Amino acid sequence: MCGIIGYNGTAQATPFLLDGLKKLEYRGYDSAGIAVSDTDGIKTEKRKGKIDALASAVRKRNDMTGTIGIGHTRWATHGAATNSNAHPHKSGKFTIVHNGIIENHKELKEKYLRLCRFDSDTDTETVAHLINRHYSGNCLEAIAQTARLLEGSFALAILCEDEPNTIFCAKKSSPLLIGVGDEASVASDISAISRKSDSLYRMDDGEIAAIHKNKVEFYDFELNEKAKSASPFTAGNNTSEKGEYEHFMLKEIFEQPEAVRKTVEAYIGADKAELLQQIKKPTGIYIVACGSAYHAGLIGRICIEKLTKTPTSVETASEFRYSDPLIDENTSVIIISQSGETADSLAALRLAKSKGAKTIAIVNVPESSIALESDFAIYTKAGAEIAVATTKAYSAQLAALYALSIHFARIWQTADSKLLNTLEQSLEQLHENIREALCLEKQMKEIAQHMQNTQHTYFIGRGIGFAVAAEASLKLKEISYIHSEAYAAGELKHGTISLIEKGTKVFAVCTPDTPEAKIQSNIDEVAARGANVIAFTSSPNIKANTTVISTTASHPLFSASTQVIPFQLLAYYTAKLRGCDIDKPRNLAKSVTVE
Ligand code: M6R
Repeated sequence: MCGIIGYNGTAQATPFLLDGLKKLEYRGYDSAGIAVSDTDGIKTEKRKGKIDALASAVRKRNDMTGTIGIGHTRWATHGAATNSNAHPHKSGKFTIVHNGIIENHKELKEKYLRLCRFDSDTDTETVAHLINRHYSGNCLEAIAQTARLLEGSFALAILCEDEPNTIFCAKKSSPLLIGVGDEASVASDISAISRKSDSLYRMDDGEIAAIHKNKVEFYDFELNEKAKSASPFTAGNNTSEKGEYEHFMLKEIFEQPEAVRKTVEAYIGADKAELLQQIKKPTGIYIVACGSAYHAGLIGRICIEKLTKTPTSVETASEFRYSDPLIDENTSVIIISQSGETADSLAALRLAKSKGAKTIAIVNVPESSIALESDFAIYTKAGAEIAVATTKAYSAQLAALYALSIHFARIWQTADSKLLNTLEQSLEQLHENIREALCLEKQMKEIAQHMQNTQHTYFIGRGIGFAVAAEASLKLKEISYIHSEAYAAGELKHGTISLIEKGTKVFAVCTPDTPEAKIQSNIDEVAARGANVIAFTSSPNIKANTTVISTTASHPLFSASTQVIPFQLLAYYTAKLRGCDIDKPRNLAKSVTVE
């Protein structure tokens, strides 16, 4: 979802900005643009579509020179994906890029900008005009006055013709990082920060930054100067290449054994539970997340309730945040997020904290807002995940949830220690079980051949199987654009079974936690209505039109981790055969930083 990049150094800004935009591409976008400042002013180029279209427009102009500039990838919210709606936007001497949503842009326009001519349908242009309207020779003042008026979320990078050596930034609720060293850079995420940085600053809400070539100054929205400490910048994990793989998604699918091994290694073992000693047994637990992270939460609930006997509910963050949830200081709230920047999950975390709950984040990006704002952070060790469709981060989330359930059960003494030892041993083998499950690749490729012209599919399961079905269905629809629904197998007969007709593809996820006879009878029900049922099971007893014998985890409680693998491969190969943009599916963003 919208990405911001900025450069202030001694080299040419344009190549850095275009390269940075490529690095931010995975967040999802539908247009892109850059602005570069030189002695003859600020030049802007923006294009609907891919960054390559922007790059070729920039090359043709041949005048985008200068050592300071800003850039943007836009994921349309206000106004269609067009050249004029693409950022940067200009007003007077100011050129700006923005990530977030200005919720009161209509009121602001009505109140302050009635006489302004707007060139776009965006909320962002309102900000540009407001800054310009408040400008009387002092950029910081104009920006601060504007920032105080804005409601909603914003990360802004701003160039002003009168201060050609500075990039100004302002932030509320949307992420912005600044790297400083031989050159300065600013970006929505760490992957695009200059490798020449020594120090990294993470802007806080309510801050304005003035980024000079080799230093940065911070202010609050009242323009009080702020002392701020930087963390050392390490390029370490920031490089992401596809290597021998055609797509990041396939690479990441095959990185799952390592992601799980590292996550388990980091958190399993009695000594690692120290951090959590402070969490007393709560009266209730909420798990809150979005999308696949929510699906991981469904599995987490099963494990936590089984091992800790604590009532646990799983909520999508977008619903939770407005549901007036029953939370107090005796509640624990677990927020799961790969990016750690998902706007709804972050809002849910803040709500839970405001009500006094203990908050625990399961998060993949250690520098993210969710990681930093939670009381306790458990890091999934998946490394950078680039494909929009999550695979290895989801698997690492499951591993973290298993480890967390075991820790809680030990600390709160809610499960037999022999059982917990057995579970720990199984968890240590989980990466091997996943490696075996990856051997189903060839079979999934074959099944994908029959999916090419499919229009509707259903994934059914019970217990853990249902939670896996939910993730399998999401994976297929988000990258192959085949309509798919996940259903609790026993629930079909209450309505949805009327959609089953001759040839409808139904994938049955049979996990060892529910009686075989129950899922078998659900398979028979849809088969009797003409469905073509493909069952995934480790049991030879399950009968369907096609039965895929899948690897199972060494403990049934962890079976989601192996069962999900073939479905990721199925989604991948189906999308590939259908010619879809696998790593960057249409309309989607990797990190959903707006509500
Ligand atoms: O970064 P997060 O884990 O908070 O993201 C949550 C969802 O947006 C994410 O899991 C999404 O559903 C994935 N693209 C699904 O593959």
